[in-house]
Amino acid sequence: MKIAVSGKGGVGKTTVAANLVKAFLKDGYNVYAVDADPDISLGQTLGFPSEELSKLTPLVELKEIIDEKSGGGGLFFDLNPDVNDVIDDYSLKQGNVTLLRMGGIKQGGSACYCKENTFLNAVLNSLLFDKNDVVILDMSAGIEHLTRGTSDGVDMMIIVTEPTRVSVQTARVVQKLAGDLGIKKIKVLGNKIRHKKEEEFIRSQFTEDDLIGALHFDEGVWETAMSEDKGVLAEEELLPNLVEVYEKILEEVKG
Ligand SMILES: Nc1ncnc2c1ncn2[C@@H]1O[C@H](COP(=O)(O)OP(=O)(O)OP(=O)(O)O)[C@@H](O)[C@H]1O
Ligand SMILES: [Mg+2]
Repeated sequence: MKIAVSGKGGVGKTTVAANLVKAFLKDGYNVYAVDADPDISLGQTLGFPSEELSKLTPLVELKEIIDEKSGGGGLFFDLNPDVNDVIDDYSLKQGNVTLLRMGGIKQGGSACYCKENTFLNAVLNSLLFDKNDVVILDMSAGIEHLTRGTSDGVDMMIIVTEPTRVSVQTARVVQKLAGDLGIKKIKVLGNKIRHKKEEEFIRSQFTEDDLIGALHFDEGVWETAMSEDKGVLAEEELLPNLVEVYEKILEEVKG
């Protein structure tokens, strides 16, 4: 299973991604948490020590490996036997979570970063050997990063939105783009809902089928943004109605 979390800046992508990582873990899955954002916020939110995080090399910087593996016409099946070595060297582990950093994929103009994209996807897709393996991708804000490369093999795109007009507008743009890229399951998830009125607003903006749920604003989560690194995975801290959303996601993805 490969699930990508996207949406406008600050809406709660990293929080939702981290919550999903924990929910899948609790459920006995083997989880690969992938920080596709150039910063290291997913690792931090999951409670990995900052010192280790700052030393973690992003996959995109593995130029030699990229060149070596993609030099001969792009037969990435060759990568599979070696992928575990790559993962061990460029990841952090805590129990059944493996954290990887994608690093910033530069885009723009005619410059093609296909090789990097293809490499990253070969790595990610080859992680998914077992039906118990899940990849959760915390995407960076905006839409530029949404390319065929990064969306390849994504089973579900979750677009997080706050109950604000601008955030909803971005969500719609991402919805359209993800659809154009051929991602089959695209779901909108409301977040930071404080009142009934806000939930109603979100519900009025999307069809029932498009909306997978609406997460409540949680003071505890808001406050942890002030706290020091714990350095350990805090499994118990899930958003109040996350489980409900998690179950719906599972149902949708597994069909
Ligand atoms: N349901 C929630 N209740 C309370 N606070 C929340 C909730 N969801 C997210 N937050 C808070 O909102 C802030 C932004 O969340 P987060 O970093 O997850 O957003 P993001 O979309 O990943 O941001 P960025 O675009 O910078 O990557 C954080 O301080 C986080 O703790
Ligand atoms: Mg983030």
